[in-house]
Amino acid sequence: MAKERKKKTDRIATVKARRSAVPPTGDTTRGIAVPGVADVKTPGGGPVPPPFLPRWGPNNPHPLSTMKTELVWEGKYDEWGNRREVDIAGCAMPMQRIETIDQPRSEAAAAGQLAMFEKKTTRVDDFRNRLIWGDNKLVMASLLAEFKGKIDLIYIDPPFDVGADFTMDVPIGDEDGDVVQKDQSALEMVAYADTWGRGTASYLGMMSERLRLMFEMLADHGSLFVHCDWRVASLLRLVLDQVFGPECYRGHIVWRSMTPSGFKGKTSLGKSYDDILYYSRKATGFRYNPQKIPYDAAYLKQRFSKVDEKGRNFKDEKIGTATSDETIERLRKEGRIYVTAQGTLRIKHFLDEADGYFMDDVWTDIFHENSQADGRTGYATQKPEALLTRIISAGSNPGDLVADFFCGSGTTGAVAEKLGRRWIMADLGRFAIHTTRKRLIDVQRTLSAEGKPYRSFDVHNLGRYERQWWQQEALKGADTEHRRVVLEFFKAEILDPAKSSSPLIHGRKGRALCHVDGIDGIFTAAEAREVAKAAAGMGATECYCLAWDFEMDIRQRMAAIEAETGVKLFPLPIPKEIMERNRKDSPPWLEVAVLEAEPVYRKTKEGTTVDIKLTKFLPSLAQIDNKELEEIRKRAIKSGFDFIDFWAIDFDWHADKPFNHHWQDYRTRKDRSLVTVSTAGYEYPKAGTYTACVKVVDVFGCDTSITVQVKV
Ligand SMILES: C[S@@+](CC[C@H](N)C(=O)[O-])C[C@H]1O[C@@H](n2cnc3c(N)ncnc32)[C@H](O)[C@@H]1O
Repeated sequence: MAKERKKKTDRIATVKARRSAVPPTGDTTRGIAVPGVADVKTPGGGPVPPPFLPRWGPNNPHPLSTMKTELVWEGKYDEWGNRREVDIAGCAMPMQRIETIDQPRSEAAAAGQLAMFEKKTTRVDDFRNRLIWGDNKLVMASLLAEFKGKIDLIYIDPPFDVGADFTMDVPIGDEDGDVVQKDQSALEMVAYADTWGRGTASYLGMMSERLRLMFEMLADHGSLFVHCDWRVASLLRLVLDQVFGPECYRGHIVWRSMTPSGFKGKTSLGKSYDDILYYSRKATGFRYNPQKIPYDAAYLKQRFSKVDEKGRNFKDEKIGTATSDETIERLRKEGRIYVTAQGTLRIKHFLDEADGYFMDDVWTDIFHENSQADGRTGYATQKPEALLTRIISAGSNPGDLVADFFCGSGTTGAVAEKLGRRWIMADLGRFAIHTTRKRLIDVQRTLSAEGKPYRSFDVHNLGRYERQWWQQEALKGADTEHRRVVLEFFKAEILDPAKSSSPLIHGRKGRALCHVDGIDGIFTAAEAREVAKAAAGMGATECYCLAWDFEMDIRQRMAAIEAETGVKLFPLPIPKEIMERNRKDSPPWLEVAVLEAEPVYRKTKEGTTVDIKLTKFLPSLAQIDNKELEEIRKRAIKSGFDFIDFWAIDFDWHADKPFNHHWQDYRTRKDRSLVTVSTAGYEYPKAGTYTACVKVVDVFGCDTSITVQVKV
């Protein structure tokens, strides 16, 4: 059968070959049948109809003869043959500032000397850096109004077209080598997914839209570095040529990212490098600061092997023919002329003056940081800071604006901050945003403690606008459709609205009923009461409440409702991942964590200082029943604080304002310790009742906030 099919394919290929063998001029202009073709049979066995060819020729050139080189993928053109453009206006939406991170605590602040520290601040206030949680297409479209033509350098490291999820390890608690930590499989979390779906066409479509937006964001002297590898480098180069123009191609950097190993290359050629494609916004006038690369030690040893009478190592090179006698005389006086055995004069280059060579496009001197190194965040695809230091130093100046719209663990921002650049970063992953926020707070603290300048930053998201856009684009507007998709990802049975006795109950999972909150709403305690009553009315004792946003302190308030109605409520935030294009697998559903805290008052000579004590924490755990998770659950019940990765306090919180980080503590790879009573010694300006907000991020990157009333 397969053989038969192959034969037919071969026949079709012959027909095509014969047709194309016909010269484009001559008889074909009269549209005559091609000789010989009539003998050929169609795949169905019948004779092939004589092909009548159009009148191609100098007066009517065949389209192929005038075609430009272009990479085409499915979806690039619409049904009418028009190039699909990014709908910038349709994607632009207001940004929500959800957190402000202004005042890193130094060691002095930790010791309660905040006022003194504040006076000595080295904070630069010309710009607030931005970390944005959301799909970068929407993020960039939303930033364009403010930043079109204003970004000096963009570096991106998009996930490759791998079609697989990346995972990461999640350490727990204070100690290295924690018992639970060993059992990695149970702790692996999906850090980010391959958002491109499964095909090259969808990858190219996604990338070309985003590169187009980056092109718009760049200043005339700006440039873009795209980090990729052999899988997509050749394709991206063509897309970049199209978006920027081949004249803006500045280079293809080969970064030897792997050290040679005995295992690689045993059965085929080993792969050891990543590709970084470098384009400038304009062909001329781009910003470029040449970098000196230190010579390799082996090269120095081999080349600078001669030693002069003063004991200085040198290498010798021939003297340029245009060198004047005076110059040679001067060099001789300086001891820089070497005379060979044959009496030829050569110039000496001393080892102690060899400060390296000008950067070229092969980088072999930057290595991945060791997995245990201080700077490692645990993010699987984290790139070395040395790599970003080179790129940012070469392509931008201090004070310039540097962006990374696929920021991962935030390497670009961390380096930009250290080099005195302003930055904007975005990522769609919850874990990426958490990792980056923590990393950048740490950079701020370190710079501040060293008396070096740093800038504040804010965390933004697109809030409900992103969901509305998704509903509009992907779900074509219908709210019932939104509920159906949510329930499908939750793997629950969808209840026919006509048959459900309450409009508040939308699905069933096992013996529990399900409520799906509206796409725009914040699920409040009042709604929870109505849902619990409806579930009780349908004879259920358990109900899942699936919502995009929950009212502050929902857990505590639900406890009273449960007691009142006899229905156990499970508040589950709808994971943003379900909005990813082409996603089919269900992302983890994590219950809202249990968090309790209370104020701690201390009398001082000046008055009262306030701190917050965490009294209970039960992390968000996935709704999966397996043995490993059961172990984690037990551990979480016993020592929930071990699952806290980061916590912060806004001592004077207002519902309509972003969360202001007055104080934070967090674990790092190096320092796993974490306090459960804050050390802020916060002083309120005057007596009164205040609301403090406590934000806890657990080791899985899930964020929980509660409020605490403070009376001073
Ligand atoms: C290879 S990682 C970047 C690693 C980074 N260079 C570092 O040093 O940590 C790629 C990142 O792109 C993010 N990403 C993928 N698609 C995205 C999208 N459409 N919008 C924003 N971020 C996206 C992923 O969540 C992931 O964190």
